[in-house]
Amino acid sequence: MGEKQRGVTIWLTGLSGAGKTTICRFLEKKLRSQEYKIEVLDGDVVRKNLSKGLTFSKEDRDENIRRIGFVAHLLTRNNIIVLVSVISPYRVIREEVKAQIGDFIEVYVNAPLEVCEQRDVKGLYKKARVGEIFDFTGIDDLYEIPLKPDVECKTNQESVAESANKILSKLEELGYINSLLLSQLHNNYSLI
Ligand SMILES: Nc1ncnc2c1ncn2[C@@H]1O[C@H](COP(=O)(O)OP(=O)(O)O)[C@@H](O)[C@H]1O
Ligand SMILES: [Mg+2]
Repeated sequence: MGEKQRGVTIWLTGLSGAGKTTICRFLEKKLRSQEYKIEVLDGDVVRKNLSKGLTFSKEDRDENIRRIGFVAHLLTRNNIIVLVSVISPYRVIREEVKAQIGDFIEVYVNAPLEVCEQRDVKGLYKKARVGEIFDFTGIDDLYEIPLKPDVECKTNQESVAESANKILSKLEELGYINSLLLSQLHNNYSLI
């Protein structure tokens, strides 16, 4: 890694099943292999501890994002690379967190609803369709697409490695990782 790394939050937003967690895991391995200091805040994990007990109402979703944003802010200012994977459906609150953190890269993990529903990684779309769960983003709750994301990953058209490399290229362009790392990563898909 060489010189001291700069902190940054990489915020992956998108529908359930769009690929946020998968891309984060991939990035985490790549960056750790180069001895970058990383922390991951994944929506599903956060809801079991930091945000335990919160519902999926608008108010509680906003509270969830504010808590994640606050932790990401603390870590970022201590020069950690923070990978956040959380649906974060509302634009205003994403903007609020972005303003708080400053060093912030918004990644829109984009797959059409039909594709996410077909993947149905956790079986939740099926439950939402038959009315077993409510307020499910994309079905009976809103997702506000990012208007000017720093990176867009179209996960129905790209491999995981391609999506992740778009993010790494942006990190390099903005000076958060060095270009040597990027070229090493491009030549090394062994960590997939
Ligand atoms: N380019 C891609 N990026 C991320 N995931 C992809 C991609 N292409 C296909 N997938 C698949 O899509 C699914 C995404 O699931 P997951 O990462 O759990 O979504 P999320 O965390 O957004 O809910 C996984 O089964 C993954 O293998
Ligand atoms: Mg996930």
